[in-house]
Amino acid sequence: VEAAKIQALILHSLDSPDATIADTAALRIDGAAIDQLQVLSVLNGLTSREVVAFTFIESEYWVLTPEGQGIASNGSPEVMVFDAIPPGPDGISISKLQKIVGDSYKFGQGAAFKNKWIKKNPSTPNALIRSVDNVVDVTRANLLSIRDGSVPLDQAILADYKKRKLVDKRKSSSYSVTRGAKFTTNLAKEETDITQDLITSGDWKSAVFKKYNFAPGVTGVAPRGGYLHPLMKVREEFRQIFLELGFTEMPTNKFVDSSFWNFDALFQPQQHPARDAHDTFFLKDPATDDKFPRDYMERVKKVHTSGGYGSIGYGYDWKKEEAEKLILRTHTTAVSSNMLYHLAQEKEFRPVKYFSIDRVFRNETTDATHLAEFHQLEGVVADRGLTLGDLIGVLHSFFQKLGIPKIKFKPAYNPYTEPSMEIFSWHDGLGKWVEIGNSGMFRPEMLGPLGLPEDVSVIAWGLGLERPTMIKYGYDDIRELLGHKVNIELVQKNPICRLDKKMGREL
Ligand code: PHE
Repeated sequence: VEAAKIQALILHSLDSPDATIADTAALRIDGAAIDQLQVLSVLNGLTSREVVAFTFIESEYWVLTPEGQGIASNGSPEVMVFDAIPPGPDGISISKLQKIVGDSYKFGQGAAFKNKWIKKNPSTPNALIRSVDNVVDVTRANLLSIRDGSVPLDQAILADYKKRKLVDKRKSSSYSVTRGAKFTTNLAKEETDITQDLITSGDWKSAVFKKYNFAPGVTGVAPRGGYLHPLMKVREEFRQIFLELGFTEMPTNKFVDSSFWNFDALFQPQQHPARDAHDTFFLKDPATDDKFPRDYMERVKKVHTSGGYGSIGYGYDWKKEEAEKLILRTHTTAVSSNMLYHLAQEKEFRPVKYFSIDRVFRNETTDATHLAEFHQLEGVVADRGLTLGDLIGVLHSFFQKLGIPKIKFKPAYNPYTEPSMEIFSWHDGLGKWVEIGNSGMFRPEMLGPLGLPEDVSVIAWGLGLERPTMIKYGYDDIRELLGHKVNIELVQKNPICRLDKKMGREL
């Protein structure tokens, strides 16, 4: 039955001032009772608009079991036994009787004896005769009335039938309905959305809007849309922290860069093992690009070859061909070196705070903790007179903002920073210090050729995005986070990233 028909029937039934519906179980459409679940859903809708009010009626009713149905149509075993005995003084032998009545014989014979309908034939052994002229099949009559739901029966009889597995008890819900405060028989259609039509026509003024259903356990239809990958969720959160601290995002939208910006500009010698095909992905076509500034290139060449800015350099034969080689950038510091070059070109020096979070590539064998492509987050601060103390202070504030208040440093080596420090954070779960990043002050051999004023220092740090994401979302194999093993359903279900941020000292 359509809900609209049920609704119309209910409203029609209440269409006089004192009308009520005592029990919706009595309602009929085309002569048939209505599924009370459907009635309930209509009543819920009407109640939310205060058109009606209703209360629950819980009731019990009895149904016939298949066995009970058999008796209702064929008669009870005791009557079958009685009917099978011919009237008269001879009666019938028990063995014949058993054959005629079949399965129900044993019970029927007992009940017929109890009712004093039959007795033993006094002159023939093992034979039975009738002791009354006719009998009434009360069991059958009772079961028929239970089937039709018309006659309320004595509880003792019902209990007996239940014991004999002829009937079964069922529970039903129905409803008692009265008119609500806003009762009406012509309900306007409820609008579910505000549409352009509603607005331009002005109909919104009189439209009836469907109420939101905030009942516990009610779930809406999940909106269809895109989902951020967990890495991107964490990136968004880190980005927000940098922006709150007044950092500007560097443009990282070039995965391919020349070795010049990735290595040479960072005072990484050309024979350095990291510049090997075992560690770095080189491009085949195009294989090279030499669009880096010539004057700057000359200064880089000189510092590598013979030094300057207080350094003796590496003392080797620097080759432009090596710097031209195109690669997939191995770190986001390739972007930082380029940004600092542009900063140095500005007429007057201005202090800057830069950050980036993007993808980098290393020619590595992948395992549970290593991928050939991953993400780095990088911070760079350039100002006059910055010291190692500033770097330590900035890192403390930054990590505090990330919700990592306990950090420690260990001296390290990078070709482009001096001093350099590895950053460790205390891991409560593991109960030990774990390495989370790398940092340092860019060395004069890197800053000098850029042409930044001599009193300007640059502090910088970098960390991977994957490890915090794995911790945050409980991944223990990095290959499930990035690549073909990613579980799309997980991506859709993972919550947004909220780090437990503590207020950091302003940078
Ligand atoms: N580029 C370094 C790395 O890839 C991180 C780093 C950035 C170190 C800036 C010092 C300064 O590990």
